[in-house]
Amino acid sequence: MNSFTSVHAVPDLPALLEAALEVKAQPLQWNELGRNRTLGLVFFNSSLRTRLSTQKAALNLGMNTLVVNVGTETWKLELQDGAVMDGDTVEHIKEGAAVIAAYCDIVAVRAFASLTDKAADTSEHTLEQFRRYAQKPLLSLESATRHPLQSFADLITIEEIRRREKMTRRPKVVLSWAPHPKALPQAVPNSFAEWMRRADVDLVITHPEGYELDEQFTKGAQILHNQDEALHDADFVYAKNWSAFNDGNYGTMLLPATDRSWTITGDKMRLTNNGKFMHCLPTRRNVEVADEVLDSASSLVLHQAQNRVVAAQTILKQMLEDLKEG
Ligand code: CP
Repeated sequence: MNSFTSVHAVPDLPALLEAALEVKAQPLQWNELGRNRTLGLVFFNSSLRTRLSTQKAALNLGMNTLVVNVGTETWKLELQDGAVMDGDTVEHIKEGAAVIAAYCDIVAVRAFASLTDKAADTSEHTLEQFRRYAQKPLLSLESATRHPLQSFADLITIEEIRRREKMTRRPKVVLSWAPHPKALPQAVPNSFAEWMRRADVDLVITHPEGYELDEQFTKGAQILHNQDEALHDADFVYAKNWSAFNDGNYGTMLLPATDRSWTITGDKMRLTNNGKFMHCLPTRRNVEVADEVLDSASSLVLHQAQNRVVAAQTILKQMLEDLKEG
């Protein structure tokens, strides 16, 4: 695997899942593979899980890591080609990405959607500028439209529960919109839907009208605007807020955060098939999900967070193997 920015980099998803379970069983078995290799982690946005889990994964493989927070610890980067840089940007991404790449074997980037420029967001402008100017294997730490390491960790979690509970049918997985006080990108739900469509599950997506995601990610999934109907008999409930994607309302909130009718509560979970609750974190307690759900035995949120190391390590391992062969 040369680069990893979406599920499209994965030729065989069941094989990748098996590889992840192997990594989880013996996390230090490949601790020489990354010796003398350096992973650069470039953050345009805040992070807790992605930052730490990816560093931990790299350490388990014997890699060094260099972490930069763009704009606060580096010069502010200019992203537009041909820009006249007489404003507040100090260094162009042409030089910035190339310099970071000169110090690293693999470059990992977190660059969220702006939610103000739909064309730039959907074209993955920042990530693609890094791909172009770094000229090194590229790992997404969440881009404008996708969060593949999160989705992979989510899939590992579902597979582990499916095996542990000896589920005999295809699990019913419900991705539910949930309220939030701030407009958020669509990357997590896009990516989750994209991965689940490749997995051996039945995916149902539920959201209020107006919150339709880009069809390229959801095509083939059942989409319901009635959350209770969607939750009926669910084995897994994945809650997440996202802002509107359609042209007229791009990046905005259509419902006030004070409307808690879509909050995942104990009553909502009782509609499910003793379903498990999932969220990528961070989450707003008692806005997106009630304490009684998050603190219950049905919550998988910490299990998912633990699997972020497994997901990152599995992908980095494959990227290192590819570098070694190259
Ligand atoms: N789920 C996730 O990506 O968490 P962070 O934003 O804290 O990295």
